[in-house]
Amino acid sequence: MVNVDKIFDSNDVKWLSQKKLPKLIYDFIEGATGREVAVKQNLKSFDEIKLLPRSLRDVSKRNLTTEFLGQKFDQPFGISPMGMCNLTCPKADLIMAKASKERNFPHGISTATSTRLEEIHNISDKNAWFQLYVFAGAESGLDLAKKAQLAGYETLILTVDVPQGSRRMRELRNGFQVPFKMGLSQILDLSSHPLWSLKTLIAGIPKPVLINESEDRFDRKALRIGATWEFLDKLRLIWKGKIIVKGILSVDDAKRARSAGMDAIWVSNHGGRQLDAAPAAIEVLPIIRDALGDEFPIAFDSGIRDGSDIVKALAKGANFTFLGRPILHSLAAAGGPGLEKILSIFYEDINVVMAQIGIIKIDEINSSVLSGGQG
Ligand code: FNR
Repeated sequence: MVNVDKIFDSNDVKWLSQKKLPKLIYDFIEGATGREVAVKQNLKSFDEIKLLPRSLRDVSKRNLTTEFLGQKFDQPFGISPMGMCNLTCPKADLIMAKASKERNFPHGISTATSTRLEEIHNISDKNAWFQLYVFAGAESGLDLAKKAQLAGYETLILTVDVPQGSRRMRELRNGFQVPFKMGLSQILDLSSHPLWSLKTLIAGIPKPVLINESEDRFDRKALRIGATWEFLDKLRLIWKGKIIVKGILSVDDAKRARSAGMDAIWVSNHGGRQLDAAPAAIEVLPIIRDALGDEFPIAFDSGIRDGSDIVKALAKGANFTFLGRPILHSLAAAGGPGLEKILSIFYEDINVVMAQIGIIKIDEINSSVLSGGQG
């Protein structure tokens, strides 16, 4: 059993996750597309951004609450939608739902979830946001959205940066497939991690329930070109709540999404998992913010690894941020206590950074906190 007192940052959970998970699963989480240039660039670009320390201000009463899309949250970061989270540990989806309710932050529920939408929504209510992939044509995409709406979901994240499943070398080399293909190398890999294998067998091997419920099987390599601008118009007509378009890196696309009546965009390069030659998401964020003006809501993910990265993303124009891999690694490292630990580390990190830069409220964070942002 991992002692969570020995976890201090996202590197610690990543390292523990690598020890605990079969290589096949660890590589599915940590891997990216191509030569993995984009994923490295995400982290490098964050490292190159500097915040400006400020002195002599009274920063004793700091507050991390913030508002996004009309909802009040207790912290400026949530959990990005990710498929097959229960591969990290049994009931990971429900553990995240409980945390999102208790700590009051949004939690993206992937189309490739292995837990029923209702079960998650029953726990976290409005904080559960449904993420839609349109993988089998517009009609089936609209049906999935209707199903989520019936299950009580009010906020929809439409992911648009997967027109086609990308080539991820680690997955190809390891023979990673959903459902699993079990050849000799997979059997050897799983048997060298007996604890994970036993727990997963007892809990039941996760399968993408939402997609299997419908007629269409989830083929991770399949075209997902159902999400077109025409689809956006149809979705807008049936979805009563907020819609966020996730995976935007182009100013033109951002403006067009706004004109199509979308409530927000989500600047992301999918954590470097789709186009290896894509720019770091944090580098295009201020360009898109400039083009859209101050008011239009922007969510952000890709490459956040500590609290100062969150402050940097807010300073560069995001209204809210999301974490991907660090969350899954924390669950793999130590289940619920691991997740709690990493969430509290990120929270505390932001809290400390705010004091260093002389800020007491999240909405005070803007480009003036950047080194070089001073007039
Ligand atoms: C993802 N991501 C993702 N995005 C999405 O819209 N739907 C999905 O089903 C998934 N699935 C998924 C699985 C795994 C294992 C990972 C790591 C990621 C992308 C995710 O939402 C997010 O954009 C990135 O993970 C953010 O980058 P970082 O924080 O991992 O660097």
